[in-house]
Amino acid sequence: MTSFYLSKPYQPPRAPKNLPLNVPWALFGGISPDQFMKQYWHKKPLLVRGAIPAFVLSSQQGESLASPISPQELAAFAQDEMVESRLVKSKPWSFDTGPFSKKAIPAIEKANWTLLLQGMEAHHPAAAHILSWFRFIPDARLDDLMISIAGIGGGVGPHFDSYDVFLIQMSGRRQWKISEQKDLSLSPNLPLKILKNFKPEKDWVLEPGDMLYLPPHVAHDGIALDSGCQTWSVGFRSPSFKELLQEGLWRLAESLEDIPGLENKFADPKQGATERAEQLPNELIKQIELKLKELKLNQVDQFLPGITAYLSEPKQQAFFDGPSAPLNPKAFAKRLASHELVCSPQTRVLSLRKQVFCNGENMTQHQTPEIVRAWQTLSANKSLKTQKLGNINASSLYEAYLAGWLIFEG
Ligand code: SIN
Ligand code: CO
Repeated sequence: MTSFYLSKPYQPPRAPKNLPLNVPWALFGGISPDQFMKQYWHKKPLLVRGAIPAFVLSSQQGESLASPISPQELAAFAQDEMVESRLVKSKPWSFDTGPFSKKAIPAIEKANWTLLLQGMEAHHPAAAHILSWFRFIPDARLDDLMISIAGIGGGVGPHFDSYDVFLIQMSGRRQWKISEQKDLSLSPNLPLKILKNFKPEKDWVLEPGDMLYLPPHVAHDGIALDSGCQTWSVGFRSPSFKELLQEGLWRLAESLEDIPGLENKFADPKQGATERAEQLPNELIKQIELKLKELKLNQVDQFLPGITAYLSEPKQQAFFDGPSAPLNPKAFAKRLASHELVCSPQTRVLSLRKQVFCNGENMTQHQTPEIVRAWQTLSANKSLKTQKLGNINASSLYEAYLAGWLIFEG
């Protein structure tokens, strides 16, 4: 059993701002992110031994590294209503959602249970740092970091996911069995989505510091071999086209509010006498077609702001707390000259060319060029330090600070 008291917690570093994309990374077993994306991403599984070399190095020196987050801390997160948590027990299968009472969380030495904590990048800097290693994949695709902690034998059963996942072993050992089988039918009458006919093709035991990448729809089953086994999963989102188009169209429809000419009434001075009075008039169809062309509503570019705004929405359970003693605009500008302004861990920022969307809103609309540039830097680097801001009164940057979307580091 891993001792969390004698070993030192691993402290994952934050990735540098400019990730080197064409040099070998230990995280991918000595291939570059460029190569990883070409050869494996969305295509085939990749097992990486020693993906985090610190674990191997410290064990060579006779020390062991523990997970950055202890079992006790994880149990406390599972009791917190701000954290999305689930408890899965096997033998027999049962499933519950959190927050949990202290009593409901099984003791670490008990077998056949696992606790899953979603969106941990918002709650612990180590999780946010690990997520930063994957910023060679677009922010719009990255979902969250989930942490599982399990007793011996614990797991969520053989299943498949509809998204890519990097499974990083952070504490104890976990046996992973995987299969690229076509039969993805599920067992009926179970509280979890468990495959009916799982036929493992590969079987590995992952040690702390190892990583397994799985593309969508690869069947897998991870069983904890040690009590307190922790797996950290970097998960991705892949919205359906239905979701993207519905959300984009809905926001596009909302934006028509701001176009004054659209209040004008349809008029049909050219309408002739008709024998087909039940039909929608051709005159109306013609004029609508013209309007769509005039407003460029027949072009993809018109949908993209709505889609970007949608993808920049924070998670449902995100909660923002403004600063308890907010700086006035002058003091804010002064602080920004010497301190990094960063995104609050639950904030999502995405760019659409020169426009920047934060937590579902366009932050660069009707802003001064200095504020627009500041948002572009924030979106690219997820941090900002500048002396060139100009007037920030009523700017979207200062408002985002007041709303707690942006915070000063430290
Ligand atoms: C786990 O960490 O136990 C589950 C992760 C997964 O299978 O996606
Ligand atoms: Co899975």
